[in-house]
Amino acid sequence: MLMDMGTPLLFLLLLTSSRLLVTVSANFNNDVDITWGNERAKILDNGQQLQLTLDRTSGCGFQSKAEYLFAKIDMQIKLVPGNSAGTVTAYYLSSQGPKHDEIDFEFLGNLSGDPYIMHTNVFAQGLGNREQQFYLWFDPTLDFHTYSVLWTSNQIIFSVDGTPVRVFKKREKELGEVDNNYHYPKSQAMRIYSSLWNADDWATRGGLVKTDWSKAPFVASFRNFNAAISSSNFAEEALDSNQEQKLQWVRNNYMIYDYCADTKRFPQGPPPECK
Ligand SMILES: *[C@@H]1O[C@H](CO)[C@@H](O)[C@H](O)[C@H]1NC(C)=O
Repeated sequence: MLMDMGTPLLFLLLLTSSRLLVTVSANFNNDVDITWGNERAKILDNGQQLQLTLDRTSGCGFQSKAEYLFAKIDMQIKLVPGNSAGTVTAYYLSSQGPKHDEIDFEFLGNLSGDPYIMHTNVFAQGLGNREQQFYLWFDPTLDFHTYSVLWTSNQIIFSVDGTPVRVFKKREKELGEVDNNYHYPKSQAMRIYSSLWNADDWATRGGLVKTDWSKAPFVASFRNFNAAISSSNFAEEALDSNQEQKLQWVRNNYMIYDYCADTKRFPQGPPPECK
């Protein structure tokens, strides 16, 4: 009797561990710490939802209790509605220390009806300068949308509602190359961070449009935070042809800045991973 019940369970465990993942559907009460802004960050619905607010005095933020070295992270976010100009909602992975690694999503607010900018970046050993920016193909303030980072030992895939928007690859070592200092986060564990703050000196139209404090407090909402970790580091995960097409569609229609194409900034040619 015991055997009969135990076998399928064991089989399931083996199946799970040989491939991916330990999926942790988080409860904000158990899995994050509010790190600044005091009562401006609120956990609601028994830990199912988290709200960040920004007023004239301060924004606020939270971080995951757990750290990850390679992971798939999903978060559903509903961004600040209405006139959100000057506000920034950030959702990113980061390690600590001066030579930290970081994988960023930042959402730059705008006047009502004008598009948010979704800003992405990848830091390695304290160095960033790998920005890509996008408009979204929907209004991100009307409902929750899923923003994901799949971070493996050889590539980072940023996705929105399952549509890949950016693939950042660890570049191959070139023939005869001894330098092992690739721009890739590969050895430092990261926490998940999120925050809402005022950045009206640069966020909206480069700082031209300021925050309208008569509209405060500004509110961004978070739910269904998921973190999956893997023993196999997801190294086998690659885009299929359908996802590849979607990525091209986003790049062709919604990408507004790509550091790889910025010849003014990199007159000597872009960083090597752009090739
Ligand atoms: C805000 O809207 C203006 C006008 O459409 C646009 O140029 C800008 O990229 C938008 N986003 C931000 C964050 O400035």
